Amino acid sequence: MQRFPLKNGVYPNQAHVRIPEGTYEMEYGREGFFGEATHLYTKEMPSAWKRIEGPLRPIAMDCRTIETSDLADPNGTPALLMQSMAACARRSLSIYLTRRREPMPFLYRTVDGDELYFFHRGVGVIETEFGILPYRPGDYVIIPKGCIYRLVPESKDTLAIISESRTAFGIPDRGILGSHALFDPGVIQYPDFDQKRSGLNGGDVELQVKRAGIRSKLIFDYNPIENVVGYKGTVLPSKLNVRDFRPISSMRYHVPPTAAATFASSEVYVVTFAPRFLGDDEVLRLPYYHRNVDYDEVIFYHEGVFFSRGGIEPGMLTLHPMGIDHGPQPQAWERDRQGLTKQTNEYAVALDAVEPLFVAPDGAKGIIEAYSTSWYYPIETPQLAQV
Ligand SMILES: [Fe+2]
Repeated sequence: MQRFPLKNGVYPNQAHVRIPEGTYEMEYGREGFFGEATHLYTKEMPSAWKRIEGPLRPIAMDCRTIETSDLADPNGTPALLMQSMAACARRSLSIYLTRRREPMPFLYRTVDGDELYFFHRGVGVIETEFGILPYRPGDYVIIPKGCIYRLVPESKDTLAIISESRTAFGIPDRGILGSHALFDPGVIQYPDFDQKRSGLNGGDVELQVKRAGIRSKLIFDYNPIENVVGYKGTVLPSKLNVRDFRPISSMRYHVPPTAAATFASSEVYVVTFAPRFLGDDEVLRLPYYHRNVDYDEVIFYHEGVFFSRGGIEPGMLTLHPMGIDHGPQPQAWERDRQGLTKQTNEYAVALDAVEPLFVAPDGAKGIIEAYSTSWYYPIETPQLAQV
């Protein structure tokens, strides 16, 4: 998302010009050197880890010593020096669940994607190079790819869904509704640089770096978060609470869910379902059944009664894959007949994924078997699958 540069601490007003004395400049940017960027100013060289573990590391090769088969044999071939991983390893969207109870005893960074946290339960802070970002239930937190951070829960009940998108999240165009629709960008919050602190100090500090799903460790004798003494730029974490989301509703028109698109990347649309009016008796208030063929639809249920669902409680998640028609469940029609769907009190987060999603072994442990036939056999009580 394009923003005017935020500035904190020690920084020059132009990149690469008059670097503050005693600091190093590091460009933290997107799309190579062509996209948005933030420049961080550090006390130590940012790459001065004192130990490194795992496969990820800077590599140098002396090509003069590598004997290729085509060196002596005209029919020989070049030597394979390196190869990208299989395309399937570059997943476009991964959805994780964290239930972390204790602070990370390490710092973390992923280059597999931008992360969008949605905090369902728990309070705490996220320590970042840009300062402290507190979180509470209902917070969306976007952590751009490559940002160093540390999750520090301050309660024992954290439950958050993390969407890791290969490409950056932005705010969809509001069209004729105007740029202040749904939420004014003014409610977006950024880390508090003045509270820049980290609980990881003294002794070795470990930074775990995830690339292609594999974690490596960089070990420093200083804290890379505390190392930043200033910055200027637009690439940094941000957050929005769902209670600041103000959906569009109409008494005469069934507003489609896409009108509540909150964030989007090329891989996923993030839609917020928030309390709203659902229309008069002429209007179809419940969702229309639909044959979704372009998106796999995930919904995480956060709070309230989900007006289109039966047997689904806060903290649950559904996946309606492409090719599987779906819509309101029988209980929803009954509530509608009783006049209970004039407005909703629900908070839920929909993730419409461009690429097909496949349930991983840990996700399978939470499957509610009866859901797949719950339009025919309504369920009121969640029935967790036996694992
Ligand atoms: Fe749907």
